[in-house]
Amino acid sequence: MRLRDALRGKIPKELLPLVPSSFDIVGSRGRAVAILELEEPLLPYAKVIAEELMRIHRSVVAVYRKLGGRSGEFRLRELELVAGEPVTEVVHKEHGYVLKLDVTKVYFSPREATERQRVASKVAPGERVMVMFAGVGPFAIAIAKAQPLVERVIAIEINPVAYSYMVENIKLNKLEGKVVPVLGDVREKAPEFYGCCTRVVMPLPKGAYAFLDHAVKCLSGKGVIHFYYWGAEGEAFQQGFELVRRAAEQQGCSAQLLEARVVSPYAPRVYKVAIDAYVECARRG
Ligand SMILES: C[S@@+](CC[C@H](N)C(=O)[O-])C[C@H]1O[C@@H](n2cnc3c(N)ncnc32)[C@H](O)[C@@H]1O
Repeated sequence: MRLRDALRGKIPKELLPLVPSSFDIVGSRGRAVAILELEEPLLPYAKVIAEELMRIHRSVVAVYRKLGGRSGEFRLRELELVAGEPVTEVVHKEHGYVLKLDVTKVYFSPREATERQRVASKVAPGERVMVMFAGVGPFAIAIAKAQPLVERVIAIEINPVAYSYMVENIKLNKLEGKVVPVLGDVREKAPEFYGCCTRVVMPLPKGAYAFLDHAVKCLSGKGVIHFYYWGAEGEAFQQGFELVRRAAEQQGCSAQLLEARVVSPYAPRVYKVAIDAYVECARRG
């Protein structure tokens, strides 16, 4: 049953259209938390809404409301407990792997599972993949699980809490040695892997373009860059690819667009897009 339908008769009728039609559930069947956005007029009914959500989704033990957008280098947002126990650490399950994380201390979006699978499905045996901005490890782990013959996945993350969870998640998924966690700033750590990779994943729509030079240099002469970007409707694909093409050219390389797709809406008429580009560097080939 949809939350909005379940709330009929429990909140004023005119507020029903404001009830969110989607929200995030992070965790597993045993224990999960829900995170939702509530518009101002719904705030007096926040507890009723949260309790109804917990009644529909039995695994949810805590409901949090977003207090704003993501901010800062770690891409975190403030959450307020609306109902349930003050649980923040959960084990999320998706596509045959688990991810332990604290929803208040790290970035994680269950909505991006399909995108992770899309990227993971492209990886061929023997590849050496770099995941920049790795968070608690969802892309790196998805890749290593989907392609057990991947040679190595290097995963760089700057938030020490996210990094610690990534280390634990690598163990939980028995991927030690396959996924190599690196704590630090991509600017400082990526040079250790210049010329080493067949593929670079860049899941930081806010600002990944500033790291494209490192991504190109990490490729071993040629390879694929998965670049994420926020852009306006009708412009995002071209702008995103143009950034990759320019970064490649600055290194004496060429870029060819393989695929461009919308990952999710970000704001009215603004989308998070994925740009997959094949980059080839004649001089280093
Ligand atoms: C949008 S989140 C993506 C996390 C993860 N890849 C995922 O999909 O859940 C971006 C991550 O990049 C990290 N980050 C931001 N700037 C960074 C930098 N300069 N070097 C390394 N990590 C960085 C943040 O701490 C955050 O965990």
